[in-house]
Amino acid sequence: MAIKQDFIKPMTWQGDSIKLLNQQKLPNEIEFIFLTSIEQVWDSIHSLKVRGAPAIGITAAYGLALWGLQSNYDSATEFRHELTKQFDYLVSSRPTAVNLYWALERLVNSVKYVEDVGGIKETLVKEAVLIQEEDERTCRAIGENGFSLFPDNPTILTHCNTGGIATSKYGTALGAFYVAKEKGANLSVFATETRPVLQGSRLTAWELQQAGVDVTLITDNMAAHVMKNKKIDAVIVGADRIAANGDTANKIGTLGLALLAKALNIPFYVAAPLSTIDLTVQDGNGITIEERSSEEVTHIAGTRIAPENVKVYNPAFDVTPNHLITAIITEKGVVEGSYLESLKEIK
Ligand code: MRU
Repeated sequence: MAIKQDFIKPMTWQGDSIKLLNQQKLPNEIEFIFLTSIEQVWDSIHSLKVRGAPAIGITAAYGLALWGLQSNYDSATEFRHELTKQFDYLVSSRPTAVNLYWALERLVNSVKYVEDVGGIKETLVKEAVLIQEEDERTCRAIGENGFSLFPDNPTILTHCNTGGIATSKYGTALGAFYVAKEKGANLSVFATETRPVLQGSRLTAWELQQAGVDVTLITDNMAAHVMKNKKIDAVIVGADRIAANGDTANKIGTLGLALLAKALNIPFYVAAPLSTIDLTVQDGNGITIEERSSEEVTHIAGTRIAPENVKVYNPAFDVTPNHLITAIITEKGVVEGSYLESLKEIK
């Protein structure tokens, strides 16, 4: 099914650079930047110019391919050796979203048996382009599977940004909203603003408004009140890493929403591609939670809103335990019940 919504392409391979939507400037400005070095790619991921697990993975893949194209090695062995160092470098840009690792690993594996330097360069680019193309199809399938869980005329609450700009197109949780719109469903969305860096207000509210989806913005501390009083049919969020047992790391605040959903008997869905499932990590305790700079908490848009030198704790993600998750929506289908077995089966 074709979704008719026009989407901004968040990243485009240009042959000798990466054209990237600078998400830091949204919603006030639609700015594209051109990345011409692996260091710029690292910085764009670290500083959230590009963010959202799949989008980070795709951009990093292009970054590694770009580095490959710019390299001068006489032997394929030497090239591959250096490639793994650049892999480590890019992986260090953000620790929680496993899609970053997954995409870069795919590139490294794609050239394992390529014998010549020119072939390695060509293969890296091809694999990165393929990852982006696949992600489009993946997100559309997630959207359709997510929509199948919604009742008629649904009112859904979402957190952070899981839309077209957090992926290659469509998004994960937001993909279900675009499918709903395409099918003519009478959908209403509540979007939490998502402190500290406001992905909900700056990105989700903007993206859904552009698409003509009925969206209402709330601050994070309004969620309990809204969920209790506004007939919320479901909460749907994305994921940065899903452990083998279904425990899910996602944007800070997700755990609170899952606990509320349980208390209020509201279904709580996680929508994510299979590439976000990390079977090497047994449970949520094994997921590294990124801690970010104190300025994200003490400042909003460059303006100080807290006293100088106040102590700050700024974890970017939290882990929702599997028993609070009603279902995990993937491109291959919806997984419920005992995640330990079903995730292994579906992956
Ligand atoms: O810090 P961010 O903005 O990269 O965090 C993003 C999220 O937590 C998203 O919900 C997740 O990556 C899924 S994006 C489809």
